[in-house]
Amino acid sequence: MKASVRLLKSDNPYGKGNNVNRRIKMISMIRLGDIIKKLDQPWSPVEVARVNDQVIRMSLVKGEYHWHKHTNEDELFYVYKGHILIQLKEQNDIDLHEGAMVVIPKGVEHCPKSIEPSYVLVFEPHILKSRGD
Ligand code: NI
Repeated sequence: MKASVRLLKSDNPYGKGNNVNRRIKMISMIRLGDIIKKLDQPWSPVEVARVNDQVIRMSLVKGEYHWHKHTNEDELFYVYKGHILIQLKEQNDIDLHEGAMVVIPKGVEHCPKSIEPSYVLVFEPHILKSRGD
């Protein structure tokens, strides 16, 4: 598989009859290993990608965040590297090892905490500012 794909006019997936003068879109691979090298501040997510109305952000999770909930949005956590806990008030904490993920439903109070410094992908609507209530 190639690292990037150039879309020619003849295989334009965005439909025929579009403006033929519009810019050709480049599709680029995203290397998460490169992104984490740039992350040195805990709890300062960087945008990795957007897909439909979702944004995927990478965070360095180190120490404990604060208790919060998202009133209108579910939030997905995926541990790319490391080991974290998602603390919950209504049930046992979720113990997330590398390669594991969880969806915290809207309205559920949660507080992420690192067991070791960890790199975590968060999926959420891009209208959200990622800080919680
Ligand atoms: Ni949250």
